[in-house]
Amino acid sequence: MGPGVEGVGPGVGTDPGVGPGMGTDPGVDDRRPAAREARPWWRDAVLYQVYPRSFADGNGDGAGDLAGLRARLPYLAGLGVDGLWISPWYVSPLADGGYDVADYRDIDPLFGTLDEAGRLIGEAHALGLRIIVDLVPNHCSEQHPWFRAALAAGPGSPERARFHFRPGRGPDGRLPPGDWQSHFGGPAWSRIDEADGRPGEWYLHLFAPEQPDWNWDNPEVRAEFESVLRFWLDRGVDGFRIDVTDHLVKESGLPDSAGHHGRPDPWRDQEGVHQVYREWRQVVDSYPGDRTFVAELWENHPERFCRYLRPDELHTAFNFALLRAPWDAAGFRRVIEDTLAAHSPVGAPPVWVLSNHDTTRTVTRYGRADSGYGFDRERRHGLPVDLALGTRRARAAALLTLALPGGAYLYQGEELGLWEVEDIPDRLRQDPVWLRTNGVDRGRDGCRVPLPWSGDRPPFGFGPDGARPWLDVQPDAWREFSVAAQLGAPGSLLELYRAALRLRGAHPGLGDGPMCWLPSEPQVLDFTRPGGFRCLVNFGPRPVPLPSPPDVLLVSGGLVQTAEGTALPADTAVWLRHTLSTA
Ligand code: NOJ
Repeated sequence: MGPGVEGVGPGVGTDPGVGPGMGTDPGVDDRRPAAREARPWWRDAVLYQVYPRSFADGNGDGAGDLAGLRARLPYLAGLGVDGLWISPWYVSPLADGGYDVADYRDIDPLFGTLDEAGRLIGEAHALGLRIIVDLVPNHCSEQHPWFRAALAAGPGSPERARFHFRPGRGPDGRLPPGDWQSHFGGPAWSRIDEADGRPGEWYLHLFAPEQPDWNWDNPEVRAEFESVLRFWLDRGVDGFRIDVTDHLVKESGLPDSAGHHGRPDPWRDQEGVHQVYREWRQVVDSYPGDRTFVAELWENHPERFCRYLRPDELHTAFNFALLRAPWDAAGFRRVIEDTLAAHSPVGAPPVWVLSNHDTTRTVTRYGRADSGYGFDRERRHGLPVDLALGTRRARAAALLTLALPGGAYLYQGEELGLWEVEDIPDRLRQDPVWLRTNGVDRGRDGCRVPLPWSGDRPPFGFGPDGARPWLDVQPDAWREFSVAAQLGAPGSLLELYRAALRLRGAHPGLGDGPMCWLPSEPQVLDFTRPGGFRCLVNFGPRPVPLPSPPDVLLVSGGLVQTAEGTALPADTAVWLRHTLSTA
């Protein structure tokens, strides 16, 4: 294996990655446990995030597509995930990688056709995989027909009322109507030219100017999105990931942020947004099967966060607190406890996530001295990274998150241990974050590099006949990280994930349900789950003794022998069979 897994291997204890008894363990039945059958699937599910453009190229044009994804569905079923969340596949000029939607009811020709999407959904279902599609309701593309109509229709028109158009401030209205800033840098307002060619009104865009914000006070907008939900539910999708869930409704009058001392911010988390989700919940509940929502919610306050998960609103939300947390036992424990405490009153299962298409790749993040995540990427970019250390921690974090109560999401390539590609030539960078900050923030392209599937050199089987990928920067070292290189390779991260997902799927105590902390040293997390399961994670530098002999189900690295017996080394997690039922 390559640099990422040095230091983990034979000679340092038991078989790395797979503990004794794996595969033939009489105590673990391969069928889905009865307790889990009795509750909705999304309470326990592990979903795999597909970023279509970078997943697999089926037609050789350099961009990932539905043909590529369909061909790899057996790989995903074999990985052991319960389903896929597919990042936007809709018609889009790709000003923001597809989060700028021009037609919510069709597939972008770059990716395929609506007919293919239907076939993909059917094929996934036949393999036992659920499909969650990405819904982007805060904003659309400037190419969306309703925005084009708004531009053409003029001030005061019903067409403009679907968006936030305002006259400017100052002489000739040349200043923006408010002080809100775009998340991608610069003002959140852009001025248009009216039909007569003169500078006219301004419109709001909390992201890029190519992404005008919808006005959710407008009944037509609400009706349109309800219709979009039904469109995809009718095509058999199992749920929706909701983009920037808390942004849709703005404070009335769009007051300036400066001097706005109240909470929440005027541009998000307004009371009115909850009514939108109550209505959406009724829509999905009117369909057979357990259709579901997962919210993208960067909300720091656990109580505000969980208001979105009340029983008549959304089902789950990504818990980014763990993704932000530096590698530290006390910090992790605090996040886990706060998360469980906040979810408990609303009865929703937590959903754990370590990375996605917006954040630094896990092995890079955990390989830095400052291993937390923040949106201050410009500060962290290029800092020294110890990939071997980051990989050890990422392996341990994988076992930890898959052992915690609730569900989990896994971002494509995370199962391969891919790292952030930081040396992308500027001319190849495409992220609007990079463009809008004039290169200060180097953006998110580094975690969106096309996946390596097989072969000895780039593009590693990403597409047929070696077609050059749209972002042609795969490191040569990925030859050892491709799917083909890792499948069946003892000790590979891919095999660790496969083993963990298989065990998790079959163990009655994992997924949704209680956990119980065991007393431990400060550098260690030690907890049990029902059914005789125990997970230990050692965050500290010193090996931690394990029960003798340890009844190992799975371990993220090698165990070590000390004078006291078998021990768990630094940055390693282990799943044990636990005989004292304390949870
Ligand atoms: C969150 C998405 O994950 C991100 O990729 C996108 O740029 C913004 N929302 C805007 O849609």
